[in-house]
Amino acid sequence: MGMGFVGLTTAAFFSSRGIPVIGIEIDEIKNQKIREGWVEPYFHEDGLKELLDQVPEGYLKVGSDYNSAIKNTDMTMIAVGTPSDEQGKISLRFVESAARSIGIALIEKPGWHLVVVKSTVVPGTTRDVGRIIAEESGKIIGQDLGLCSNPEFLKEGSAVKDSLEPDRVMIGGFDEKSSQALAAFYQQIYKDRIAEKKTKIFCQGLENAELVKYTANSLLALKISFANEIATIAEKIPGVDVKEVMKGVFSDYRINREFLNAGLGFGGSCFPKDVIALLNFAIEKGCLAPILHALLQVNNNQVIHTIEIIEKILGGLNNKKIAILGLAFKPNTDDLREARSTKLVSNLLNKGARIFVTDPKVKYEDFISELIQEDAKRYNQVLRTILTDPSTNDEKKVHQVFQNTLKQSVTYGTIEECLEQASACILVTEWPEYNNISPKTFQSLMREPKLLFDGRRIYNALSFKDFDVKYQGIGLGAADT
Ligand code: UGA
Repeated sequence: MGMGFVGLTTAAFFSSRGIPVIGIEIDEIKNQKIREGWVEPYFHEDGLKELLDQVPEGYLKVGSDYNSAIKNTDMTMIAVGTPSDEQGKISLRFVESAARSIGIALIEKPGWHLVVVKSTVVPGTTRDVGRIIAEESGKIIGQDLGLCSNPEFLKEGSAVKDSLEPDRVMIGGFDEKSSQALAAFYQQIYKDRIAEKKTKIFCQGLENAELVKYTANSLLALKISFANEIATIAEKIPGVDVKEVMKGVFSDYRINREFLNAGLGFGGSCFPKDVIALLNFAIEKGCLAPILHALLQVNNNQVIHTIEIIEKILGGLNNKKIAILGLAFKPNTDDLREARSTKLVSNLLNKGARIFVTDPKVKYEDFISELIQEDAKRYNQVLRTILTDPSTNDEKKVHQVFQNTLKQSVTYGTIEECLEQASACILVTEWPEYNNISPKTFQSLMREPKLLFDGRRIYNALSFKDFDVKYQGIGLGAADT
């Protein structure tokens, strides 16, 4: 249930391995796109199209008829979204509605049926899902029905690879029978990897498995914020480079090198949302969780800190042309959710800068829509101005005007068009396409002071030594610091 990037990738993976799958999605427009998506799925995910192409005829069907889908299958996996509500708490409305639908569909279904929650949910939710299903269906969990939590660890952009080659499968079972049934399912799928000791299957209690997911994401986010904090310290020490420092740190066998790359901060649909959800959950339970709090603060500061550096070097931002390389929250995706680019551009616009953006995958219209959401304050200003004119007193019009205003200040172009006469260039997303822009290109196209701010440290600082380009990188203590 739920054909987002997790649901669709999982459905494509299982069906490509000869397991018949019915994907249930209430949004029929999405379904239509997925059906046509044998050619190009409705979002970009590396290798998904190829995986879908491997699915034997008839093994993957998508539709909105959950009743018939649940009746004609042995296991239902819930992979619907768990967005944040206005206070940042996890909203379980889609999960609960899925549970109710499952309960209703199961009323008349004979035999044992396994329900699995894949969506990221706070501890206790899967048990509640079981309770809702039991209430609706009149059946008894542990007797007529099985129940598991099975959090996923797929990364956007490499979800297909992560599905094919997971390091672990985490199962939280309501009872032994449920855990064993789901473990047997995965043992079959990952037979070879388990034999080679490349994939482990863990069976624990429901709430443990749920908390594993939040802990893993929060720890990864913490590693990033920690690296960013050290980077900020490193910037204050002439000649110090956080990348070199980290190399020394990684040589300790106890410290794994992953997710310690300093940058503009983490974005995406998972880390920011999940850390906030865990923080709120902790507070509700009476824990202050200061580390979760601090890691979010460091993350938010990265963009502000970057703008301060650029503003200082440029001597103000008003009317300055700034080029932004990369908009997606990370390479290999067109996803803009919580992307650093929107926060950065929104702040730069507030300081009067003229913005030129480029990205290999993100569409201009999508970026503008994301900016509108980010920039509620400026939106309200436009709203107020417009509302003084009664003839334009309508919300749609305001949206239109605001969109047009943004389009005047944010231009989309090629790399060259962005760099042309730009006072500063900010590398936001480390797309491989940007690796080979030469110091000479930056030098010849940009205007003084020709500041290149490498927000992901993809360039070699030394290669700019003989060029008239002011190179500044995250975590690099410049000689004039
Ligand atoms: C993350 C987790 O990595 C997955 O294991 C998890 O399944 C997923 O969330 C989820 O909960 O569904 P994802 O959000 O797709 O995956 O992306 P990541 O590759 O983890 O990157 C997240 C952000 O961290 C990106 O903005 C990236 O640029 C940033 N990052 C990552 C850094 O700034 N530095 C690093 O060293 C690594």
